[in-house]
Amino acid sequence: MKKTLIALACAISLSYAIDYDPVKGSMLSLSCASCHGTDGKSVAITPLITGLGKTTMYNILLDYKYDRRPGTMMPKHAKGFTDAELEQISYYFSKIKR
Ligand code: HEC
Repeated sequence: MKKTLIALACAISLSYAIDYDPVKGSMLSLSCASCHGTDGKSVAITPLITGLGKTTMYNILLDYKYDRRPGTMMPKHAKGFTDAELEQISYYFSKIKR
């Protein structure tokens, strides 16, 4: 019975991961601010990461994570997140105006 409940809880949390969760999105995106600036509005040499669009950004992040796109910092950073988390982050930045 306990195992069934745990399996059920996992299934529910997995299905939630697909929907955008603004709190989770903004929390995860805090880790980007140290290099890309507050809300992705970079003032240093790192690229501006707002206004890329959710799908474009998600694909870029997946490419970094799976070593399909070269980079100095991003391949390492992207590997620290699950695909679902990278999707949440992409949602978050797609909602910020440039
Ligand atoms: C340690 C510094 C650092 C952190 C932290 C960081 N980035 Fe980056 N990011 C870079 C650098 C540097 C580049 C340029 C590519 C490279 O050298 O890796 C870049 C490039 C990018 C690009 C490509 C932009 C373009 O137009 O080509 C995206 C998208 C991006 N970062 C998103 C993020 C997101 C989202 C996070 C947080 C999860 C994040 N970055 C955290 C340093 C960082």
